[in-house]
Amino acid sequence: MKTAIEPFKIKTVEHIHITTREEREKALAEAYYNPFALRSDKITIDLLTDSGTTAMSSKQWGALMDGDESYAGSVSYYKFEDAVKKITGFKHIIPTHQGRAAEKVLFSVVAQGGKTIPNNTHFDTTRGNLEFIGANAVDLPTEIGTRPEVIAPFKGNMDLEKLEETIKKYGKENIPLAMITITNNSGGGQPVSMENIRGAKKILSKYGIPLYLDCCRFAENAYFIKTREEGYADKSILEICQEMFSYADGATMSAKKDGMSNTGGFIATNSDDIAERCRTNLIVMEGFITYGGLARRDLEALAIGFEEVVDENYLKYRVAQSKGLADEITAAGVPIVLPAGAHAIYIDAKSFAPHIEPKNFPGQSIACEIYRVGGIRTTEIGSLMFGKEDKDGNHIAPPMELVRLAIPRRVYTKSHMEYIAEAIIEVYNNRNNLRPMKITWQAPYLRHFTCRCAYL
Ligand code: F0G
Repeated sequence: MKTAIEPFKIKTVEHIHITTREEREKALAEAYYNPFALRSDKITIDLLTDSGTTAMSSKQWGALMDGDESYAGSVSYYKFEDAVKKITGFKHIIPTHQGRAAEKVLFSVVAQGGKTIPNNTHFDTTRGNLEFIGANAVDLPTEIGTRPEVIAPFKGNMDLEKLEETIKKYGKENIPLAMITITNNSGGGQPVSMENIRGAKKILSKYGIPLYLDCCRFAENAYFIKTREEGYADKSILEICQEMFSYADGATMSAKKDGMSNTGGFIATNSDDIAERCRTNLIVMEGFITYGGLARRDLEALAIGFEEVVDENYLKYRVAQSKGLADEITAAGVPIVLPAGAHAIYIDAKSFAPHIEPKNFPGQSIACEIYRVGGIRTTEIGSLMFGKEDKDGNHIAPPMELVRLAIPRRVYTKSHMEYIAEAIIEVYNNRNNLRPMKITWQAPYLRHFTCRCAYL
């Protein structure tokens, strides 16, 4: 059979809100044209994030009842630890309440004192956590990774020549570790090849620098390796994951993604020294070492989530669902980052609205209009999220202006996807009416979450 079906059926349903255009116009104005500030009861389809928005399975819901809520030594922790060790093989598994907490605790141990951390592309909280402690976050995407229209299998790769240049520039003693984000979320959700991970490890080993994976979407990355990289077609997803992690010395994870759960994360490491120092900081920052800020029942759900996510039938459906949406909108001419990733479709806002300069946030304008037309919440990943100003007040734009349609796991059906496509195509057909925007208020860090916007 060619049709990739949802490998699950529906037992419980959740009401979604259908609003009028007038209600949406009012809600958008009240949110100062920032979709992050919209109330979720004014949203019909929420594509803001795939993080923590997963529909858990009946097994996971059942397992919540087995949560052993002991403060220390909870049996639920050991189930979680076993599940993560099976996939990653790392020696120490330290739970945290979400991914950015893992980053914060790890960086508090390794990156203090103006250290440099290279990454294929730092996610915004990863960069934020580093910059917050005065460290230097360096992005090393490949050249094709920043060209939305180019079709290539592994556009999430790290530029390995630039990695070596970066090590020479800053000095190996100032680089406590390098990271690779799989899949490369801020770089368009594109996967990283096994060859690239292996190559990065080889270079880093020469300089004695450990490699850590930011592995939120490791299973999706493994599926792309299986289907796109030579030599992996006959390997299981679990085997591919194990190989990916075998090249790394540790990882941080937001388990709100491929942990198939609504909360959770971890730090993993093979270093006894880093583990010990992370655990000490964890107790102050998150909680005791066997719960890390989570309810123990959440560790139960995660232990099962890690088993469910390496199911090839699930990953096949997941990738087919995203590709289906991508195919439908690209057939109507909508420019997106090609090829489609798994967790999200990224609209290329520069090509979509070329009449709006990056400094006037074309992506934000598109995101607002998609909400107006369909009650669909998306998020800008471009000048609003990553743009900066130089000392003369000139706008410094990031390489790409994107609008992300993140697809929650196991949540939306095929007709929801058709509805999304219809709304986006309508916005595209009326793209000449999209208006430039400006920021009227912003916070000093991570401004996109809370900034207020207006039309020029
Ligand atoms: N790293 C990556 C690659 C991420 O995508 C995220 C979160 C994090 C770290 C931080 O994890 O949210 O659990 O603290 N990404 C979400 C997103 C928020 O919408 O892409 P967190």
